[in-house]
Amino acid sequence: MTKIVLITGGNKGLGYESAKALKDLGYKVYIGSRNDERGQQASQELGVHYVQLDVTSDYSVTNAYNMIAQKEGHLDILINNAGISGQFAAPADITPRDIEKVYNTNVFGIVRMMNTFIPLLEKSEQPVVVNVSSGLGSFGMVTNPETAESQVNSLAYCSSKSAVTMLTLQYAKGLPNMQVNAADPGSTNTDLVGDFSNNAKPASEGIKPIIELATIDEHGPTGTFIDDNGTVPW
Ligand SMILES: NC(=O)c1ccc[n+]([C@@H]2O[C@H](COP(=O)([O-])OP(=O)(O)OC[C@H]3O[C@@H](n4cnc5c(N)ncnc54)[C@H](OP(=O)(O)O)[C@@H]3O)[C@@H](O)[C@H]2O)c1
Repeated sequence: MTKIVLITGGNKGLGYESAKALKDLGYKVYIGSRNDERGQQASQELGVHYVQLDVTSDYSVTNAYNMIAQKEGHLDILINNAGISGQFAAPADITPRDIEKVYNTNVFGIVRMMNTFIPLLEKSEQPVVVNVSSGLGSFGMVTNPETAESQVNSLAYCSSKSAVTMLTLQYAKGLPNMQVNAADPGSTNTDLVGDFSNNAKPASEGIKPIIELATIDEHGPTGTFIDDNGTVPW
């Protein structure tokens, strides 16, 4: 049976590219977009389904749940991809309000999606969740002076992505019938990195660990964090 996939933030960047790859692999893909126009345009280009979905809004997430529940009756794969970088200011200048904005999308957005969609995932024969995290949230990478990640100082974004990997572990422990994993695309040339995109790879490369985790079979892992080279240190 064709598997149903929902990708948050699917109207551009890594989410868009993941939708394209999964559609080509034969999955039935829904892209979530917080903006109707951008979402509809992307879904038409890709030939996939579209659902209005702002991960910071209970109302929007509940409507998306109702729409997919009504049309499909279950969800096989949820890719929690929507994310923002926030501002790259000196840590001393970051206010609680600045951090709250980033956490509301990157962290609470995942909790909102999980809290709402778990019942629909539980109706799948093999529910899979992929959380798009980052090496910038990996303690192992940011403390290793040999990595590019150690050169970045971003209070809000880095700490939000550390939370994403811990959320992944805690959901994996609490949901033994699901496979919940985190992916690090690595530095990828999208709007999110903007001016920092010098050595970044194209999105078609960045999606590799996301697609790998989205397409695991029932023997695949849960509670892991990978990039294109294998396991990422916590
Ligand atoms: N690019 C990298 O180097 C890199 C590396 C590691 C991890 N990541 C992660 O990869 C994920 C995708 O990022 P990207 O690089 O593809 O960036 P991007 O091109 O800026 O795409 C981000 C997507 O998230 C959406 N989004 C933002 N806030 C949202 C909200 N409240 N509700 C729903 N959707 C929302 C955006 O929608 P709009 O078009 O409406 O803004 C857009 O579709 C993020 O979680 C990011 O942290 C990226």
